[in-house]
Amino acid sequence: MTLKGKRILLGLTGGIAAFKAAELVRSLAKAGCDVRVVMSEAACRFITPVTMQALSGQRVWTDLWDPGVPDNMAHIELSRDRDLIVVAPASADFMAKVARGLADDLLSTLVLARRCALLLAPAMNVEMWNNPATRRNVKRLRGDGVAIAGPAAGDQACGETGMGRMLEAREIVAEVEAFFQPRLLAGRHVLITAGPTVEPIDPVRAITNASSGKMGYAVARAANEAGASVTLVSGPTALEAPAGVRRISVRTAREMFDAVVKSVNDADVFVSVAAVADYRVVNPSAQKIKRGARKAMTLELTENPDILAHVAGLKKPPFCVGFAAESEKLAAHARQKRRRKGIPLLAANLAQEALGADDNALTLFDDAGEHSLGRSSKLEQARKLVAHIAAMLAKKKKR
Ligand code: C5P
Repeated sequence: MTLKGKRILLGLTGGIAAFKAAELVRSLAKAGCDVRVVMSEAACRFITPVTMQALSGQRVWTDLWDPGVPDNMAHIELSRDRDLIVVAPASADFMAKVARGLADDLLSTLVLARRCALLLAPAMNVEMWNNPATRRNVKRLRGDGVAIAGPAAGDQACGETGMGRMLEAREIVAEVEAFFQPRLLAGRHVLITAGPTVEPIDPVRAITNASSGKMGYAVARAANEAGASVTLVSGPTALEAPAGVRRISVRTAREMFDAVVKSVNDADVFVSVAAVADYRVVNPSAQKIKRGARKAMTLELTENPDILAHVAGLKKPPFCVGFAAESEKLAAHARQKRRRKGIPLLAANLAQEALGADDNALTLFDDAGEHSLGRSSKLEQARKLVAHIAAMLAKKKKR
């Protein structure tokens, strides 16, 4: 587990989302973190230090002028042995303070005096988030190397709707885990395809499939966390591109093929997660096809290019990873597919378990045999896949 033994300082500032910090501290503690909690005065109006103390198992710090602190250096000492400071919720006011380097209470002072990384999870009203002053502060904070997780869009406690909801505790935990991922692919360029393709029949109808894109996006995120520069060629999905990932949006298999060919030359790794349509309609109609006198109709289909086989067949191919979603006989089909495509690594899963789901159970097939990754979230599976790819790349280099 990546978070075991990590020392985290969790700061809370004033916002109704402070209630989510209770769940957050519990999850971090459960994951094996040592969590020290510091609360601003306003945070104490939303949730009590007693709650946070009970959940973190440690005393909670609130006061810059606490006479109980032996040398009055709490603002320095509290962060010195920490691996990461997380502020959740981070109010608009707090972000403004950090952006300007102000230090007028315990939390802002120890943030200014920190040596470790800082992750903020903003929580505020949509207009506060959209205000040019906050936009400026966010830009400045990012420029200063501060990580910002969220916010998300949705209903707000004030009754309005829009950007500004703090991420859920489990999402913030995922961001914290991302911080501690080893940089196994630093300096590498990873090209990934994800999602379905859409092959038009007419302007409003198409042949597509049930791929959600979640697995491919998780691989993109995991590769980015591992320090790679990531290009994600994606069919239509409802997902947001992971932060730091360059996304190229496509619809058809041929568009996906073209986008991959354009980016593949400087790629070290190609992970083909997309569910690419094997066939497309030969002559899609330019106009909507009307229900007519015909009782039946036939669509003529022609084969799409096999993107993965093309890339694997290049003179100097990147390290190629295929995906296989099978409905039965997983291992036999996977082995055969790996051979047929001529690729070093193939990740297989059962389609009925993986499609659209948030978790997955991949089995990896390579020259050494078969490796089960167990069942976990798609992000966790993707991190294991990335570690496996990095290990294979390292071995290849040694040879
Ligand atoms: O056997 P199949 O072609 O479905 O193998 C699936 C693997 O091949 C996946 O990695 C998928 O992304 C890739 N693929 C492709 N282009 C196609 C069909 C599949 O890149 N036209």
